[in-house]
Amino acid sequence: MLFDTVKIGSTELANRLIMAPLTRCRADAGHVPNALMAEYYSQRASAGLIICECTMVMPNTSAFISEPGIYSEQQVEAWKQVTDAVHTAGGKIFLQIWHAGRAAHPLMNDGAENVGPSAIAIDGEVHTPSGKAANVKPRELRDDELSDIVAAFKKAAENAIAAGFDGVEVHGANGYLLDQFLRDGSNKRDGSYGGSVENRARLLFEVLDAVTGAIGAERVGLRLSPLNSYNSMIDSDPLGLVSYLAERLNSYELAYLHLMRADFFGQQKADVVTPVRELYKGNLIVNMGYSAEEADKVVSAGQADMVAFGTGFLANPDLPARIKAGADWNAPNPKTFYSPGAVGYTDYPTIDPA
Ligand code: PHB
Repeated sequence: MLFDTVKIGSTELANRLIMAPLTRCRADAGHVPNALMAEYYSQRASAGLIICECTMVMPNTSAFISEPGIYSEQQVEAWKQVTDAVHTAGGKIFLQIWHAGRAAHPLMNDGAENVGPSAIAIDGEVHTPSGKAANVKPRELRDDELSDIVAAFKKAAENAIAAGFDGVEVHGANGYLLDQFLRDGSNKRDGSYGGSVENRARLLFEVLDAVTGAIGAERVGLRLSPLNSYNSMIDSDPLGLVSYLAERLNSYELAYLHLMRADFFGQQKADVVTPVRELYKGNLIVNMGYSAEEADKVVSAGQADMVAFGTGFLANPDLPARIKAGADWNAPNPKTFYSPGAVGYTDYPTIDPA
């Protein structure tokens, strides 16, 4: 079942094993992708779909050192070597597009202030080029500033297609800007973008309207993580929120909905997959902690259409071949997740070295 083809929107996938987006911090100065990134992604082209790491839709919104962007001409040109390499190797590739919102840090953005739905900081510290620093309280965005952010997502999607991507994944998860608006722990706004679930979801749907209008819904996916407490996120009714979103998303006919089923820290627990599967009529990718056995079980049972693996693909460029062969998986090394260079990036071995 995992090796059956599947059509997502306009893209035919060779299998149902999806590479989840992974922050790897290997871009060049100016948030420009490079040849090393092309090598890393093309090594993983046997995934049914690669979802590229989160990528900035506008300047001064960086939350990670050396993360890529898709807002400048130079970035678009540089991404072409990545998409070409993956396509040449027979793969399909979407780009995850994001705005970090309050998770961006002035020390990573030439002193630019960070912004969010409400003036509430993330707890704790982040890594910046000048060492660890406390997260900064964001400035509350005015309603009249949001159309510029929507326009930036739209332009980023157009740029992604120009750069050769098969589509984009809108990052609505993990405590970044769109998720900050969705969940009531980070969104305390008055007015039309705060309060009710409909209002909190307004920015997400404005982004989806703009992006699908620009490149076609068949080339757009969306990632959600209603339970993840990463980045100090919480909602008073995660099941109500994700059910509302799943139902409304039906009318978009997206390429897929990508649902993270759990919490990085294991604090917020619920079954979100079952209600979303019941309510959402489109292609569903599930993610977080699936073994090959469980993935096969859920796809065979029709509980999901595809399963995304993060660290599985990080450490195993040939993950589909390993799953097919029943081979062991390389263990990921967290020490090199975000470190510069090829070590821990392009040097994980395959079972059948070329
Ligand atoms: C991370 O690198 O820790 C990270 C980045 C983006 C996410 C989730 C986690 O969506």
